[in-house]
Amino acid sequence: MEDYDFMELENRLKVYCEDSYYPFHMPGHKRNPDFSMFGCKMGCYDITEIPGFDNLANPSDILKEEQDRISAFYGCDKTFLLVNGCTGGVLSAMALVYAMYGAHTKVLMGRNCHRSVYNALCLNNLIPVYMWPEYFENSGILCGIGADEVKDFLNREPDIKALVITSPTYEGVLSDMNAIAKVCHEKGVMVIVDEAHGAHLGAEGFPMDSVRLGCDIVIHGLHKTLPALTQTAVMHVNAGIADIGLLGRIISMYQTSSPSYILMTSAVKAMDIYMNGTGFKEYYSRLKKLRSELRENLTKLSLFEPYEIYDPSKIVIMTNGYMDGAKLASMLRARKLEIEMAAPGYIICMTSVGDTNEGFSRLKMVLFDIDASIKEAGSHQRLVEMSHLRPRIEFAPCDAFAARRERVVLRAAVGRICASNICVYPPGVPMIATGEVFDSKVIDMLSYYVNSPYEVIGIDKEGCVEVVSR
Ligand SMILES: Cc1ncc(COP(=O)(O)O)c(C=O)c1O
Repeated sequence: MEDYDFMELENRLKVYCEDSYYPFHMPGHKRNPDFSMFGCKMGCYDITEIPGFDNLANPSDILKEEQDRISAFYGCDKTFLLVNGCTGGVLSAMALVYAMYGAHTKVLMGRNCHRSVYNALCLNNLIPVYMWPEYFENSGILCGIGADEVKDFLNREPDIKALVITSPTYEGVLSDMNAIAKVCHEKGVMVIVDEAHGAHLGAEGFPMDSVRLGCDIVIHGLHKTLPALTQTAVMHVNAGIADIGLLGRIISMYQTSSPSYILMTSAVKAMDIYMNGTGFKEYYSRLKKLRSELRENLTKLSLFEPYEIYDPSKIVIMTNGYMDGAKLASMLRARKLEIEMAAPGYIICMTSVGDTNEGFSRLKMVLFDIDASIKEAGSHQRLVEMSHLRPRIEFAPCDAFAARRERVVLRAAVGRICASNICVYPPGVPMIATGEVFDSKVIDMLSYYVNSPYEVIGIDKEGCVEVVSR
């Protein structure tokens, strides 16, 4: 990054994008010119709500038609175009829970949700009941959540009104959303699926999406796994429990009143590619080939392939204790391959229909080279074990968020209640969430991350965290 020191943003972006870095990260268009719009002269197409272009806050013409076309494809009752990412969708869905059931409503949720869900708890005075998924052995990767587990929670806590689950996870692990929806619907519980990483699900070869599996509200990040511009997302709704009219009003409160027509066009175009299945058959067969070559030829590193329902678009490479994932990421970067995420025990390369043969082949060759260059076992497995944290919750997130707070250095925070969400980003799942108590295990883990190449949100430059005042 030193080369960029004196460059302003536009130049920095130009220099980087004109170099030969290949993106194994979002957005799913992969900067592939085959998926560009308007011959790239974007500024010329940046308009506002002029006659003939409808208004996303009150769609009645072209934008309504586009939304209706998408919902008809999924067979659901409503689709909303979103221009401020899945975050806007998550905040709106959780605000609907508040609007329908009131403050202090209990929400059952995976403790591996994205931080937008925790923020929504605070903004809407909702009370979480956390489910902690198990880990796949020796991996640091979380399993899916089972329908039986959900059923047990709903039986124990009959006042739960909504469930929020991330499926697939960043690593591509899916929960059985059909079985979970059935269990929840028997009790009238609304099922919200953060399917941010699953906009491509249901396409040829991939597992089915949660919209067609009967969940109530499903949020798709188009920019993550389809050829769409950053920030584009959609929310699909199956009528029954969710109040669609109210949800529409909430979404228009959370979205900008000036949604970009470039983003909306990109969203609609990506949906067309998905709905027509353009390129998916070929993408899936290339992906299968890449996966089998990695599976068969890596000897020290390995390809993560769980037995559960899995999204094969995620190429997760396990480092098996030979090195930290951040080290593997930097070795790939030195060979101009940019990945989506590194964790102590693995890296994630995101693929999409926008990937090229050249990209896949570069990834394969570089991984084989690195694999062959590994001579000795490392001692990085300990970090994977350390990542199994379960901090105790003491305050409701909304109460800790609203309480008087103070800064303390991380090491002095043992026993104190966290007043923010502290996440390694990506994936943005809090290691300790608002209202949870710092213990020595959490502090050790956070200290490791702070002193390594990972980006930690929630710890300031002086190494301080925010805690609830005594
Ligand atoms: C599981 C999950 N949900 C929600 C989000 C937020 O999505 P966005 O960046 O589109 O707002 C992310 C972001 O990476 C995510 O990983």
